[in-house]
Amino acid sequence: MALHMMIDSSSPEVPFNAPATISKRLSSTKPIAAAATPADLENAKALFLGKQGRITELMKGLAALSVDEKKSRGAAINQIKQAVEQALNERRQALADAELQAQLKAEAVDVTLPGRQSARGGLHPVSLTMERIEAIFGSMGFEVAQGPEIETDWFNFTALNTPQDHPARSMHDTFYVEGGLLLRTHTSPMQIRHAVQHVKRHQSRLDAGQGMPEIRVIAPGRTYRVDSDATHSPMFHQCEGLWIGENVSFKDLKVVFTDFCRTFFESDDLVLRFRPSFFPFTEPSAEVDVQWRGRWLEVMGCGMVDPAVLEGLGIDPERYSGFAAGLGVERFCMVRHGIDDIRRLFTSDLRFLEQF
Ligand code: DAH
Repeated sequence: MALHMMIDSSSPEVPFNAPATISKRLSSTKPIAAAATPADLENAKALFLGKQGRITELMKGLAALSVDEKKSRGAAINQIKQAVEQALNERRQALADAELQAQLKAEAVDVTLPGRQSARGGLHPVSLTMERIEAIFGSMGFEVAQGPEIETDWFNFTALNTPQDHPARSMHDTFYVEGGLLLRTHTSPMQIRHAVQHVKRHQSRLDAGQGMPEIRVIAPGRTYRVDSDATHSPMFHQCEGLWIGENVSFKDLKVVFTDFCRTFFESDDLVLRFRPSFFPFTEPSAEVDVQWRGRWLEVMGCGMVDPAVLEGLGIDPERYSGFAAGLGVERFCMVRHGIDDIRRLFTSDLRFLEQF
């Protein structure tokens, strides 16, 4: 009965190596071979070996048979069962292999593809310019000092001989921060900060009339003003220079800055012009122009440190003198590289920046 129910005459395949009487009438292992996924395979397995599977049903049918029949038919069913199990194992293996192959294919690395290059960073042209400035002044014996960008009114103006209501302040409008602080408008407050420290360090020698070593310092850094056009940026960089000692004269100022500019612009016959000017903290004062492509270009302000500033620092102006200068770093960078607009330096356009 049970065997009869399992007949599947529509199946053209009879792959079992079992007695024809049974295998012919049992459907083929086609559902196993056709299983496309592990879930399909489980369903196919149930079809044969499940509670109501074809083979299970064949086994159930054995109960009603005689001992001899049980023997021969039981052996035949076992053979079929083995064949089904083998087919299941083979399919399981094939599915696992296929899955592995698919995974390998999905994760394949094409070793012939060119590698992805990580872009190499570089220093910003303004940083490169500052390094260059530091190197040249360093070779002349200047040390490098750093100071705060948020400055007090006193260091930025008053100590530089620029009291409240001094007209020179109007050219230095800036961002004011609560509590009498402001974003420094120039690096000149570093003259004061550095000199104050220097005097403090050598106070006992000064008190004993032994004198102090020379001050020779530059202070590069960011500065801020309410200014914005092709040649002015609200944030820009300056480099301050200060040399104070005995017998330091305007001649030394001219030598140092002529030398500096010629080295910076790599031109031994670079022509400089010292044009009289005014700064509250220097006397006399000058602006320095360099001749560049047939034009005069202003590159820095300078002068002899005003005796009032020296006195404020506790330095005797009868014994000591010195000169100071403030140069615009972007201006030096723009002249050297022929850059037409200062804003190019701050818009982060890689096509521009990659050229440095
Ligand atoms: N601080 C001045 C400015 O930003 C530049 C300057 C002029 C600095 C003369 C100096 C100096 O040290 O002596 O306009």
